[in-house]
Amino acid sequence: MPITTCVFDAYGTLFDVNAAARVAAQDHPVLADVWPALARDWRSKQLQYTWLRAITDAHDDFWQVTQDGLDWAMEAAGLDDPTLRQILLDLYWRLAPYDEVPAMLDAVKAAGLNTAILSNGSPAMLDAAVGSAGLGHRLDAILSVESVGIFKPDARVYDLVGQHFGCDRGDVLFVSSNGWDAAGATGYGFTTVWVNRAGEPVDRMPWRPAHELSDLTGIPKIAGVA
Ligand code: LAC
Repeated sequence: MPITTCVFDAYGTLFDVNAAARVAAQDHPVLADVWPALARDWRSKQLQYTWLRAITDAHDDFWQVTQDGLDWAMEAAGLDDPTLRQILLDLYWRLAPYDEVPAMLDAVKAAGLNTAILSNGSPAMLDAAVGSAGLGHRLDAILSVESVGIFKPDARVYDLVGQHFGCDRGDVLFVSSNGWDAAGATGYGFTTVWVNRAGEPVDRMPWRPAHELSDLTGIPKIAGVA
């Protein structure tokens, strides 16, 4: 079945989640050595908290788990600085997109496919990130898990795509840098691309992504429009 709709995860896929700690380190020498570990722990705890909240039926939004993850990571790094905490959180609202994102979305849209974000992010966070990156006119929809109140990879989240576009699962190319998200979406029935920027091993889940790329430049080709 031809792909009609390209759906992208947001954090780590379109937006560089390491950018907040990396940018803050430019002005804060205390981060010079620790920012990579801080960024890794922040992301890791943020995601763990999404899964734990989902399986314990204790949902709160992505902004809450983003703050909770940062608090864990700062404590692990021995950082107790409310001003720095606020700077890092503010930067999370305007994360840089990866370099290839605008041209890739332009190519997909110019070919007449639907484009969307499907993300754990809250609507306010996603609007801010999309706006600061100048991607608004390149996306037909910004779909947030907040409309179903549970995080990925719950199937109710992936259902949002068909509900919005009226398409079948087989019409959708779902793109994520998160191996567990690409696996979950594969199990759901989307054609999937895992964007494996760091060259990590594939997640040992019951489902493997259909495609693997090292960045997003190959998306138009996989979508059948290049
Ligand atoms: C998202 C997280 C998983 O954007 O990166 O949904």
